[in-house]
Amino acid sequence: MAVRAAGLNFVDALFVQGRYQIRPSVPFVPGSELAGVITEVGSQVEGLEVGGRVLASVGLGAFAEEVVLEGSAVTPIPHGVTDGQAATLGQSYCTAVFALERRACVQPGRHVLVLGAGGGVGLAAIDVACALGATVIGAASSETKRRLALDAGATSVIDTSSESLKDRARELSGGGVDVAVDPVGGDLSEAALRSLGYEGQLLVIGFASGTIASLPANQILLRNRRVVGIDWGAWALGHPTENAALLSVVLDRVAAGAYHPIEPTTYPLADAGVALRDLLERRISGKAVLVP
Ligand SMILES: NC(=O)c1ccc[n+]([C@@H]2O[C@H](COP(=O)([O-])OP(=O)(O)OC[C@H]3O[C@@H](n4cnc5c(N)ncnc54)[C@H](OP(=O)(O)O)[C@@H]3O)[C@@H](O)[C@H]2O)c1
Repeated sequence: MAVRAAGLNFVDALFVQGRYQIRPSVPFVPGSELAGVITEVGSQVEGLEVGGRVLASVGLGAFAEEVVLEGSAVTPIPHGVTDGQAATLGQSYCTAVFALERRACVQPGRHVLVLGAGGGVGLAAIDVACALGATVIGAASSETKRRLALDAGATSVIDTSSESLKDRARELSGGGVDVAVDPVGGDLSEAALRSLGYEGQLLVIGFASGTIASLPANQILLRNRRVVGIDWGAWALGHPTENAALLSVVLDRVAAGAYHPIEPTTYPLADAGVALRDLLERRISGKAVLVP
């Protein structure tokens, strides 16, 4: 198939830096998510046609002009979903739905705090939490990212570069949030834990800051809180049928207008290095794609 857009994800940067738990031998083609058009179909493949628009999660190899994939690895893109959205919604939305619905069981009316709210996982988490009927507080470091969080449905935002996350989240939620979504790590993890109300849950999703927090156990004991690990990637590998069903639910909800994936910023494929550096240095707001 011809790649039309390859989604940029934090994990791609970790692979390239040799900082991911899996270290492929070099040289390798990075890129874990893509959308494109089918150019050829194998004789054994059923249900797919040349010209069809599809998306895929591939682990490695998406930063390319063309890819060869198993027929079972691709999913048709619903009408109305752009190439950019299709190349960037899989990982972020599946992670958000897995975290908020399956692991945290978020109910309508709950207060959900989202860290990294102007990033990929953060924006998807805001969208999914809003669709669940939650009230969302977004936390981000820049005005642009906080604006995106508000546009995605957050009712209020916290400036993590100048405000106390714990104090503001408690204030905005009337005493403590029910769920904190944490794809950032570092000092914000403990502040998010301390912002939780009674039986609040801290969802540990990632460490974009580069620092894995050590959390004080007394803060988990207090108020009967929970710290919940979210490893959607490993779950997806171990449960391919269930993950395909999860992606299908996400796409149905996008097509129905229940979810609103952001239109990504575009970089030429040749600028993959520039794009990855921008991602690592926090210059990308929302999502980004490489376009061959
Ligand atoms: N557990 C899972 O299954 C799963 C699934 C998908 C992703 N993840 C992980 O989740 C994390 C976030 O992914 P993402 O796609 O949302 O990334 P992203 O779009 O780059 O957003 C990450 C956010 O983290 C914040 N951040 C703070 N310090 C940073 C630093 N030193 N470098 C870069 N960002 C920094 C930035 O927000 P501010 O500028 O507002 O601080 C940024 O917007 C990654 O670690 C990724 O590997 C985990």
